[in-house]
Amino acid sequence: MNQDQKNNNLKNTSTSSLSNGLRGEISAPGDKSISHRCVILSSIAIGESRIEGLLGSTDVICTIEAMKSLGANISLNSNKCIINGIGIGSLIEPKKPLDFGNSGTAARLIMGLVSTHPIKSVFVGDASLSKRPMGRVIDPLTEFGTEFELTSSEFFPIVVNGAKLPIPISYETSVPSAQVKSAVLLAGLNTPGITSVIEKQKTRDHTERLLEIYGYQIDIIEEKQKTKISITGQESLTSVNIVVPGDPSSAAYPVVAGLICKNSNVTVKNVLMNPTRDGIYKSLEEMGAKIDFTNKKFQAGEDVYDILVESSHLKAIDVPASRAPSMIDDYPVLAVAASIAEGTSIFRGLSELKVKESNRLSGIKHFLEVNGVNVAIKNDDLIIEGNPKGIKGGGIINTNLDHRIAMSSLILGLISDSPVSIDDTKTIDTSFPGFINLMRALGAKIKLSDMSSAL
Ligand code: S3P
Repeated sequence: MNQDQKNNNLKNTSTSSLSNGLRGEISAPGDKSISHRCVILSSIAIGESRIEGLLGSTDVICTIEAMKSLGANISLNSNKCIINGIGIGSLIEPKKPLDFGNSGTAARLIMGLVSTHPIKSVFVGDASLSKRPMGRVIDPLTEFGTEFELTSSEFFPIVVNGAKLPIPISYETSVPSAQVKSAVLLAGLNTPGITSVIEKQKTRDHTERLLEIYGYQIDIIEEKQKTKISITGQESLTSVNIVVPGDPSSAAYPVVAGLICKNSNVTVKNVLMNPTRDGIYKSLEEMGAKIDFTNKKFQAGEDVYDILVESSHLKAIDVPASRAPSMIDDYPVLAVAASIAEGTSIFRGLSELKVKESNRLSGIKHFLEVNGVNVAIKNDDLIIEGNPKGIKGGGIINTNLDHRIAMSSLILGLISDSPVSIDDTKTIDTSFPGFINLMRALGAKIKLSDMSSAL
């Protein structure tokens, strides 16, 4: 490693330490899933859409850049975004590879969208995204008539040759994945006839809710414990004025911090609450969290609340596998809460965590273990022995390009006897730019390395 690389690494580190008395009111950043979808749908709507509260994270910027390369006219000024859509079926062939950075959602959703346009596009991403399985979207998209050029099994880089005459499909997903469901629905938009997706386990339903808001007819039928979602292709989307609600997965970090740090009282405003996303909040309530949901509003087709929390004595929890889709991104931070709860927690059925931004099942075990928590993985279950007296801490966590492991490790440091460090702070910008400043505003002791005071 040369000196520049060493300096760069140093620039990126940050450290959190024992913090009491977190107090204050903050707003959650815009929801990442809804932000991606608003950019994509506005880009193929007819007319000008105005999106407020768009998450300006690196993941969402990848979606914006990709949609611009595909022909949309997009301007972003602080978190106000104006998009002039080009209509369904009008995407142009991108001149350079579409770079999706760290974002599995951007990559899979846009792969669905381009797959039924007669254009060729090259999909690339960072080291983390290049290890994530794409077979789960390639399989259904191939049924539409799309052709894929693969160089390294199912992994990026991938060349997508969109179908010239796409054929509608009816597809039952084999993994509970909103990304797969949404890829198929977006492919169906430019396909004549009816495209259907069938889910055994419900996953986040923002694509469905937003399609309705953009004036697109969508039919949802519940039968034999499955959900069938159907659209008729080649209709049109109308432009919208929309406000993106706060992200419940991002809000979970200050919420958990407020619960586990002593003498704390924290409010997180404007948080989306949707039954396909609220597993983390159900779990915290079951653990005995003092948590209130107030000031209900309705934004972007979703219920939105302010969340108030106070320091709480948490009890261990047994999280059923059936809850996983509604909190799939939130196990790392729930694991922090479990590590200080009374008793042994078990989180069941976490196989999907192995294919996230990093292998989060082993990533959670690692960041807890190096900070002195007793933790084990049995089959795909995670078992965490809680210690209400506190955590030893002292670990330096290699975040492996995983923003949620990075933020969760810093939250763990707030209840640890010795400070906890992460090797890469920048990765947090993937979903939560401003995380450290926001946590500091509440009173959390988080320090960037000396070299990074300019960050
Ligand atoms: C997302 C779906 C989830 C989630 C991801 C965002 C989405 O992935 O992990 O952060 O916006 O559709 P899967 O649907 O693949 O589980």
